[in-house]
Amino acid sequence: MEKISEGKTKEVFSLDNEHVLLRFKDSVTAGDGAKADIIDGKGILNAQTSALLFRLLERDGIETHYVGMKDERTMIVKRLAMIPVEVVLRNYATGSIVKRLPIKEGEAFNPPIVEFFLKDDARHDPLLNYHHMRHLKLMNEEEARLVEEVMVRVNQTLSKVISKMGLILYDFKLEFGRVNGRLVVGDEISLDSMRVRDPTGRILDKDLYRKGYPLDQVKASYVEFLDRLRSVA
Ligand SMILES: Nc1ncnc2c1ncn2[C@@H]1O[C@H](COP(=O)(O)OP(=O)(O)O)[C@@H](O)[C@H]1O
Ligand SMILES: [Mg+2]
Repeated sequence: MEKISEGKTKEVFSLDNEHVLLRFKDSVTAGDGAKADIIDGKGILNAQTSALLFRLLERDGIETHYVGMKDERTMIVKRLAMIPVEVVLRNYATGSIVKRLPIKEGEAFNPPIVEFFLKDDARHDPLLNYHHMRHLKLMNEEEARLVEEVMVRVNQTLSKVISKMGLILYDFKLEFGRVNGRLVVGDEISLDSMRVRDPTGRILDKDLYRKGYPLDQVKASYVEFLDRLRSVA
């Protein structure tokens, strides 16, 4: 099968005109690829987590690229013309926003904050506004507003299931693509792209890896999250 592209954590293969395969690798990276390791089985965990969450979004009427699974680490998805923008929704402050702005770690955002970043590791994913996105032909203002509305709906679905698990969704990142003039949620939704904590503040997501915790501890947390998700979803 023809490999179309390979990123830091997934390979993309051509399936037919309308579909591609996303194969989740066991790699884990941070700092725009500056730090990288292998965690055996992580690809399966993230593929399974993503598939389950995409199905929940579809159930709530949000269009995603998810079609089905080819094997335990390979997702069949609609072929999208990806927009190289990372869209982030924040319920609680952590990560880059507390470095960039006078906002304290853990501060709540009501309503949530949505931010756009250019997917450009070499430039460390710079923040974008509507003007930048229009000039760079990434999306127009109308599309950006639509994307913000989808982010809020996705947040409702994800926050609800994560709260059923006794956990808190701090923030998450989505990537969107186009097909037949529609904007569709693509890529993945996993602990690589969400920040999830328990009520005591214990971190369950990729921040464990970013902060240098042992790889087996990072994996155990990904396993625990998927187990708890399966038990409530
Ligand atoms: N439905 C889709 N159709 C086409 N490409 C996709 C789809 N979903 C995700 N992709 C792309 O797959 C590529 C590989 O993923 P990943 O390894 O996460 O890359 P990166 O390191 O650039 O984040 C990314 O460029 C992502 O945008
Ligand atoms: Mg990626």
